[in-house]
Amino acid sequence: MLFDSHAHLDDNRFDNDRAEVIERAKEAGIVGIVNAGATMESSARSIALAEEYDFIYAAVGIHPHDAKEASKCDYDQLAAWAVNPKVVAIGEIGLDYYYDLSPREVQQQVFIRQLDVARQCNKPFIIHDRDAHGDIMDILKKEAKGLTGVLHCYSGSWEMAKEVLKMGFYISFAGPVTYAKDGKLKEVATNVPLDRLLVETDCPYLTPKPYRGRRNEPAYVKFTAEEVAGVRGMDFAALAEAATANTKHLFGIA
Ligand code: NI
Repeated sequence: MLFDSHAHLDDNRFDNDRAEVIERAKEAGIVGIVNAGATMESSARSIALAEEYDFIYAAVGIHPHDAKEASKCDYDQLAAWAVNPKVVAIGEIGLDYYYDLSPREVQQQVFIRQLDVARQCNKPFIIHDRDAHGDIMDILKKEAKGLTGVLHCYSGSWEMAKEVLKMGFYISFAGPVTYAKDGKLKEVATNVPLDRLLVETDCPYLTPKPYRGRRNEPAYVKFTAEEVAGVRGMDFAALAEAATANTKHLFGIA
């Protein structure tokens, strides 16, 4: 029993076999999938998937890559979508200073504006943070009071994780925890309290070992969960149960 807390099943890399991929997830014991939006178009596709499949839920939001395309009416549309009970979060939102596909000030404004949408709709957020740890933490400290959410595909240090946890947020692990040789991510996975960790695929990206290099899919979340259980010296079933319960709790899923 596992929950894939972050997937992109609307991606065109699934166009030829999406139904089969979703069926394989079910057969593998995946009890839920949150499909994250990245643009207004993919947020709409995310909702369509959530309406088609009982165990798929949608997040809606504008990824920092596309921040430069965001307009005032997009925020109204996100808030309108969030009324749908299958829309469980605002995401993915945040900052990406690795690709810098939108100017940093624009990324910051659009991120802050979407935290406001999360507050207005009383929904948790899903954060994308690539090479932007300092500004992510500054913005969360100033702008996310009273909100809840998750740092997806966590890539920061244990020092930063302690701050994130103090603010009451969750930490989600993706495929990279199965590759990290430096041990930084494994240190975080070892130390995060059991009631604050999630697992995800971020598929079609970030495929865990042993399938690294192939297209990722929700059924492979078990490899990430096995790695996290392993570094913690925990039983896989207990880790899977906790991560699933945490995901449901965060996203208000019964
Ligand atoms: Ni993602």
